[in-house]
Parts: sequence; C-alpha cells; structure tokens
Amino acid sequence: MRLILLGAPGAGKGTQANFIKEKFGIPQISTGDMLRAAVKAGTPLGLEAKSIMDAGGLVRDDIIIGLVKERIAQDDCANGFLFDGFPRTIPQAEAMIAAGVDIDYVVEIDVPDAAIVERMAGRRVHLASGRTYHVAFNPPKVAGKDDVTGEDLIQRDDDQEETVKKRLSVYHEQTAVLVGFYGKLAAAGSAKAPKYVKVDGARAVETVRDEVLKALGA
Ligand code: AP5
Ligand code: ZN
Repeated sequence: MRLILLGAPGAGKGTQANFIKEKFGIPQISTGDMLRAAVKAGTPLGLEAKSIMDAGGLVRDDIIIGLVKERIAQDDCANGFLFDGFPRTIPQAEAMIAAGVDIDYVVEIDVPDAAIVERMAGRRVHLASGRTYHVAFNPPKVAGKDDVTGEDLIQRDDDQEETVKKRLSVYHEQTAVLVGFYGKLAAAGSAKAPKYVKVDGARAVETVRDEVLKALGA
C-alpha cells in the first residue's frame, strides 16, 4: 500500500497517519518530521530549512525530492509507505511519477481554514516520533508528556498564529492545486492511477479515522 495524505497545515495528516501506519504496517514518511530532525541535529540541510520553515514557506523542490527518493529506497519501504506532507507542489508530484512511484490512494483531509488556527494553538508534539496531541481535542494521557515514551511534549516554532496564516496561504497557492492534479489522474482511471478519497476532517479524530480506514478497505 502506497498512499498520500493531502491536506492543509493542521488538517490532521500526522494524527491520521499514526492510525494508518499501525493498521497497514507501513512507514510514515513525513517531510516535515524529516526537516525538523535535520534542524534539531544542526545539519547543513537543517540550517538552511529552519528559517524557511519558521517563515511558513516551502523548502526547495530539489532538496525535498532528493530526501524522499533516498528514504523510499530503504528496505522498510519495500511493502509500501505513507506520504505525509509530500508532495506539496506539482513538481514534487511529477518527480514521483517520473521515478515510476505508483500510488494506490490519495486521501484528502478537508478542514476549513477557520478551524486550523485553533488546532495549531493547542498542538503539542513529541519531536522524536512526530506523535501529535492537542490540549483539548486529543490530549495525552499525562499533560505535557508523550503517551509512549513519557518524554516532554513541545510546541512547534511554526505554530505561532501569524506563521500558521502564512502556511495556510502557501497551501492555497501551491499545494491545493494537487487536489485537482490527483483528482484528474484518478478520474482518468488508468491501471496505475491512484484512487482518490476525500474525507471531511472537521469532525472528531476517531470519526475521521474510522472513515479513512474504511475507505482504505481496512
Ligand atoms: P509539516 O510538518 O508537513 O506541516 P504541515 O503540512 O503544515 O502540517 P502540520 O504538521 O502542521 O499539520 P497536520 O496536518 O499533520 O495536523 P496534525 O495531525 O498535527 O511541514 C512543516 C514545514 O516543513 C512546512 O511549512 C515547510 O516549510 C516544510 N516542508 C514540509 N514538507 C515539505 C515539502 N514536501 N515541500 C516543501 N517544504 C516542506 O493536527 C494538528 C492539530 O490538530 C493537533 O494538535 C491535533 O491533535 C489536532 N487535531 C487533529 N485532528 C483533529 C480533529 N479531527 N479534531 C480536532 N483536533 C484535531
Ligand atoms: Zn504534520
């Protein structure tokens, strides 16, 4: 199973990815998590990416495409993977097609912008795993601590309200076009075309989870 989770910042891609990867036993490939790991490790990529991410912009396509190609060549991706936050531009999507990476499902999680800022303000993350919580909507078992490791949760630097607004506008300018891109591909119905699933993400985490898993035949 190879699938893409498509959706605005804060739509719940990371939250739903957690359920999907468990269910299907496939790795989650979050370019955002990979970039945050590079920032934390202080690598040259991290140093370059940090200011772009903090400003709510997108990291260059060639860098991201290189990262993803390297990642999907690893052994644990042999039976599939889940892209979270990738592709984010048409050139990124086209690079996967050019590389012969066939996708089974594109799952769009649709949430109106108005709900997003509130979600981001309450988001807390476990940086090492990418696990994501919300103080009110999806709280950890112990406040401020990751459910699995018990380590501290943090707030992301790019979750300031102004940065979230910028990220949303970048999404509408550069990423939302992928809805039409994959929609058309799916409608063309060729053997290699992905199935396109659109889910209303403005409902409870578990409701969204059940609908996504059902659409994926789980
Ligand atoms: P990335 O980490 O991918 O961020 P994003 O796409 O902006 O998405 P988020 O992680 O903010 O949101 P999410 O959809 O995962 O929501 P979550 O599940 O956490 O990218 C960060 C940056 O890296 C980018 O801005 C860019 O600079 C760079 N980058 C990354 N990939 C790139 C690429 N391919 N190309 C170029 N640059 C790239 O949920 C959000 C909150 O809501 C949580 O608190 C959660 O608990 C809560 N929540 C989730 N579901 C629900 C629900 N149903 N009801 C109520 N609350 C909910
Ligand atoms: Zn995420």
